[in-house]
Amino acid sequence: MGIINSQCFCDFLFFSIISLLLSQISSSAKVYNITSLQPLAQGQTLVSSGGIFELGFFSPNSSANKYVGIWHKSVFPRKVVWVANRDSPLAVTDALATLTITSNGNLQLVDGKRNSVWSTNISVLSDGSAAALLLDNGNFVVKFNTGDEYLWESFDYPGDTILPSMLLGFNSKSGKRSFLTSWKSENDPSTGEFVLGLTPQNPAQIFIWINGSTPFWRSGPWEKSMFIGIPGRDDQYLSGFHLDANVQQGTKYFWYNLFDKTVEYMYISSKGIHKCMDSKNGENWNLHWETPKIPCDIYGTCGPFGVCEASESSTTPICKCLKGFAPKSVDEWSRGNRTRGCVRQTQLFCGSNTSQSVSLSRKEDGFWKMSNVKLPDYHEYSPLYEEDCRILCRDNCSCLAYAYVNTIGCLVWSKDLIDISEFSSGGADLFIRLANAELGEEGKRIKLVASLVSICFIIMAAIAFGLYKLRVNPKGIIKVMRNEIRLTDTSETSRESLREYIRTHDPSELLVYEYDFNSILIATSNFSTTNKLGEGGFGAVYWGKLEEGKEIAVKRLSSCSGQGIEEFKNEMLLISKLQHKNLVRLMGCCIKDDEKLIIYEFMQNKSLDTLLFDPMKRGVLDWAKRFNIIQGVARGLLYLHRDSCLKVIHRDLKASNILLDENMNPKISDFGLARIFQGTQNLANTQKVAGTLGYMSPEYAMRGIFSEKSDVYSFGVLVLEIIGGWKNTSFYDHETELCFLPYVWHIWSEGKGLYLVDEVLADSYSASEAMRCLHVGLLCVQDNAADRPTMPEVVFMLSSETDSPQPKQPIFSFVSDPRPRYDSGCSANEATITLLQGR
Ligand SMILES: *[C@@H]1O[C@H](CO)[C@@H](O)[C@H](O)[C@H]1NC(C)=O
Ligand SMILES: *[C@@H]1O[C@H](CO)[C@@H](O)[C@H](O)[C@H]1NC(C)=O
Ligand SMILES: *[C@@H]1O[C@H](CO)[C@@H](O)[C@H](O)[C@H]1NC(C)=O
Ligand SMILES: *[C@@H]1O[C@H](CO)[C@@H](O)[C@H](O)[C@H]1NC(C)=O
Ligand SMILES: *[C@@H]1O[C@H](CO)[C@@H](O)[C@H](O)[C@H]1NC(C)=O
Ligand SMILES: *[C@@H]1O[C@H](CO)[C@@H](O)[C@H](O)[C@H]1NC(C)=O
Ligand SMILES: *[C@@H]1O[C@H](CO)[C@@H](O)[C@H](O)[C@H]1NC(C)=O
Repeated sequence: MGIINSQCFCDFLFFSIISLLLSQISSSAKVYNITSLQPLAQGQTLVSSGGIFELGFFSPNSSANKYVGIWHKSVFPRKVVWVANRDSPLAVTDALATLTITSNGNLQLVDGKRNSVWSTNISVLSDGSAAALLLDNGNFVVKFNTGDEYLWESFDYPGDTILPSMLLGFNSKSGKRSFLTSWKSENDPSTGEFVLGLTPQNPAQIFIWINGSTPFWRSGPWEKSMFIGIPGRDDQYLSGFHLDANVQQGTKYFWYNLFDKTVEYMYISSKGIHKCMDSKNGENWNLHWETPKIPCDIYGTCGPFGVCEASESSTTPICKCLKGFAPKSVDEWSRGNRTRGCVRQTQLFCGSNTSQSVSLSRKEDGFWKMSNVKLPDYHEYSPLYEEDCRILCRDNCSCLAYAYVNTIGCLVWSKDLIDISEFSSGGADLFIRLANAELGEEGKRIKLVASLVSICFIIMAAIAFGLYKLRVNPKGIIKVMRNEIRLTDTSETSRESLREYIRTHDPSELLVYEYDFNSILIATSNFSTTNKLGEGGFGAVYWGKLEEGKEIAVKRLSSCSGQGIEEFKNEMLLISKLQHKNLVRLMGCCIKDDEKLIIYEFMQNKSLDTLLFDPMKRGVLDWAKRFNIIQGVARGLLYLHRDSCLKVIHRDLKASNILLDENMNPKISDFGLARIFQGTQNLANTQKVAGTLGYMSPEYAMRGIFSEKSDVYSFGVLVLEIIGGWKNTSFYDHETELCFLPYVWHIWSEGKGLYLVDEVLADSYSASEAMRCLHVGLLCVQDNAADRPTMPEVVFMLSSETDSPQPKQPIFSFVSDPRPRYDSGCSANEATITLLQGR
């Protein structure tokens, strides 16, 4: 049948990829299912309902064999992503072979002589109504006419390709493993030499093995969003890699999803290269990335205790020994044979026979720090903090090295250190144990501080901060070390020019009253700590009482807005135009030297968090009040997004920024401040990420992309907090081992949504309202911004009984998504962070 040809389209560093063009099956008839009465014959193809995938007979270029396989229907050159009978081919001349379903529900490929050449092996008894379908994700499934359960699915039997949403991993209880196995050659789908799979280690790694056992390539340990040994690939990781482990069930699976809605597949080539192909236009496959690509990517290139200097340009590995080590055989090493690696030069003090070697000149061993490395193989994980990690390694003589990775924790090594690469950037810090004599001054000055709190919070923080210098003090307050950016423009003249500005503008525009600094000092008792109400976004807030008796709240902006006074003033004028009953009213501002104060009306009931998260006071907020708060915040946000003159994106919506007046009406505060800290440039394209952990949408936290939808996300988190009376950042359910959002989703998807309602409300709430809020909240925290509703839709859904779309299962990419590249930046306070995004 097949007119066969292939095309070579790329020539890469090591190997060329030859991709397969499949027979263009002329006038092929499409079918949408296979049943026992309707087998798939040659000349027919089975097509997925959306026309994305196609299954049929094919014969590779210049091959005498014929197979049944699956490929993307309209992307070229065609690549077969799954083959049924890879090791039992049909003859290319066999025109009568068919794929059918037997009476017991098994798929069976029979040749022209009616002999079975391949079949599935399920033991479910079928009434003959089983049908095989091809799904739009490429999964080929057998199911009964009725019911959704799959009797068999091809995703359980991967070939050389992993498609999005397919799982690769293992179940250590059942012993089931799924891995990719390469083809023998580009034109021969039979089982090849290379296997790609996940290791059971903690944290897991992806390996490519040759002939099942010899390591060929290794990804380095998984660090919550990516594999550590692959630097400079952050961009690509936006395609969304995930690793799900369930300790109780003994399962660990790797999968990926499409972040940007391109078509994509990953496979292992017959030469052992792991390639990711994508198609942006939906017509042609392009190589997105591949690995191993450079010599250093090959496992153990430089032998034990050797280091490979990774460089994109070199075609031969540049090997050196770790500090304090030298080639085991200088002769072999200089001839380029690094199999035997390097050996230690000066024996360690630890573990040596001290009774003989005690001498004053011998001192304790120390650690040598190597930066930007792909950590060696054979790590052992300990759930310890940095300082304890060092002590663990120091006190055990068999420990050769340790590393502390924010997103993982403590890793130690006691086997030969192998497969280390040194990158120019990225990677992690590795601390190698060396005898004192080998250490320069540098090695002795390693100081480490860390102490961590809530697991969930740390995971979020660590990911968000990625490359940050992050410190957590024992009270659990995360502080980002920062360089203060000071305003240079604080002179008397600029203040004059500001006043001038105010004078020269239309008085009707001047809604900002400028307070005298001294009167504010008096009102707030010199910003005394007893007057401090809290630390909101962008600065501390103080209570004050003006001479005439009016109570005010004064926000003292942190000095790093990076904005000149005129710009600040301008922004204040704009912000003062935002007036809505669910926004805190701005009364004025005050500028003195580099002090910038914003004066608001004082809210009797302080902020929502002071009530909601206080076990003693939570009961004050009955359901009617909570529902009113949810609706009020939604309306305030709608006003900011759509109805105001400015179209403001809040960017730091959270419980502590919702103030409550004497009647418990919610008022959003800190709106528009992002503008001040942002400057007036294009709001959607910023280098700075300001927000609060736990409330930041994935795309904002990871990539600095923000839009109305990032506020919608924060709103969703807030709604879920209000319903349950939980604080998302300190929530962790020990039974399910889930953080806040995954937990809420889990309970909701089990149909037990009302279990999530705060127990202090007992039965005094409207179940339908609560379910509606929960539903809306979950819709708002969808990973994909496009799946989240807009604020007009939210307001509508909250106030009507109509059916809302079902939320999709969120993947909570914040906890599992790509690590951003951030530089240290300017932060405001304990809760709100401002990150500078790297260019
Ligand atoms: C595929 O077939 C064409 C024509 O039959 C031939 O020219 C080409 O070399 C073949 N390619 C491979 C990779 O075998
Ligand atoms: C089919 O499955 C049964 C048990 O379910 C097993 O005993 C048998 O060996 C399997 N046969 C093949 C060919 O895999
Ligand atoms: C199979 O397809 C036929 C039409 O092509 C349709 O009538 C039938 O319901 C389908 N069966 C299943 C199980 O989807
Ligand atoms: C895998 O094993 C086969 C047979 O044992 C051998 O011919 C082949 O060279 C091995 N492959 C590699 C890449 O070493
Ligand atoms: C490299 O050295 C090892 C150990 O001495 C030896 O077994 C191996 O054959 C050598 N390889 C090459 C390519 O010379
Ligand atoms: C350490 O010294 C003791 C005697 O002082 C000796 O018996 C023992 O073998 C030595 N151990 C090693 C590892 O050198
Ligand atoms: C030292 O480390 C090794 C390897 O991790 C471990 O097997 C051993 O139990 C440790 N010894 C002590 C005393 O902790």
